[in-house]
Amino acid sequence: MKKRYLLAPGPTPVPETVALEMAQPMLHHRTPQFSAIFAEAAEDAKYLFQTQQDVLILASTGTGGMEGCITNLFSPGDKVLVVNGGKFGERWGKISEAYGLKVVEIKVEWGTAVDPKAVEALLEKEKDIRGILVQASETSTTAAHPIEALSRLTRDRDDLLLVVDAITGLGVFNLPMDEWGIDALITGSQKALELPPGLALVGLSKKAMKFNEKSTCPRFYFDFKKEKKNLADKTSAYTPAVSLIIGLRAVLKSIKEEGLENVFARHNRLARATRAATQAMGLKMVAPDCPADSATGVFVPEGVDGGKLVKMIRDEFGVTLAGGQDQWKGKVLRIAHLGYVDTFDVVIAISALEMALKKMGAKVEFGRGVAAAQEVLMEGY
Ligand SMILES: Cc1ncc(COP(=O)(O)O)c(C=O)c1O
Repeated sequence: MKKRYLLAPGPTPVPETVALEMAQPMLHHRTPQFSAIFAEAAEDAKYLFQTQQDVLILASTGTGGMEGCITNLFSPGDKVLVVNGGKFGERWGKISEAYGLKVVEIKVEWGTAVDPKAVEALLEKEKDIRGILVQASETSTTAAHPIEALSRLTRDRDDLLLVVDAITGLGVFNLPMDEWGIDALITGSQKALELPPGLALVGLSKKAMKFNEKSTCPRFYFDFKKEKKNLADKTSAYTPAVSLIIGLRAVLKSIKEEGLENVFARHNRLARATRAATQAMGLKMVAPDCPADSATGVFVPEGVDGGKLVKMIRDEFGVTLAGGQDQWKGKVLRIAHLGYVDTFDVVIAISALEMALKKMGAKVEFGRGVAAAQEVLMEGY
């Protein structure tokens, strides 16, 4: 027998209560019963996004929400500034190019955050840039970009949008959409929303909807204007992901009950505990100056194969963490602490890491990482 623990940056664990809610007999989506659930979820999503504007709930993964933002807000030939500091920043560029947008890229060294001054300078130089496309948390490098500082560059301009992929940021740390003036804010269900994959949520500012009026990109399934109209009638344009939306309503209720500030504080405590633990174990963080509270990335010790380490922790110890991608393949380990994750999940992850590293022949003193985590985790009690 092996008990399994899921501590990767998505999909994340689904609370048992939410799984049971979703196991209800299927509802028809064009009924008053489902409309009430849909409307409640859409209303509570505004609390999570900290916005008065509509939040669209789309049946797709997060990437669909990103693609929808490109096709609904821009036109072929429009120039967009892509912050490329990892796999997901790179994806902004690929989607934009697929629809004929002109991409100017700021390449950011992996593990670092974009410098808002570099963005400001580029905007000054290229006055026809119509959008900044960025990640709140670049999951591939565990780095957080300075969204508030970027919003200061866009919010007073009516010809420039700030489009934020917050797929591992929203519900983890503070991203007040209206207060900062974020124009499009995207998340996916399988991260801090504690649900299976299959939903993308997109919040859109009034400015974004003005861009939508002028946008000429080809589109059909992701049509924000059509979805907004349907949302007003408590429904969606096409068959919604009924069970996931039932789960979403339950999760949003519990987030509301806990309170956003407490949700952020919980994620921050788990993140600091994980960072303290890995530091105590002598592991070097991959994003030491701008770590996101969603996941902690560390370089594996010299001589250890990161790929084999992740496999051993998963297959022998039952704990699923994530490895590095692309240039960091085999070199990096990522421990996630977002969503339905609590104190003892961190203890389990660190303990498993100590044991697996020892088994792989690395120098490990048992309990060093766990003790350092416990020191921080005690703050919660
Ligand atoms: C920051 C970020 N952007 C985009 C995505 C892509 O989301 P999906 O796999 O749900 O399409 C992910 C998924 O891990 C992510 O972490």
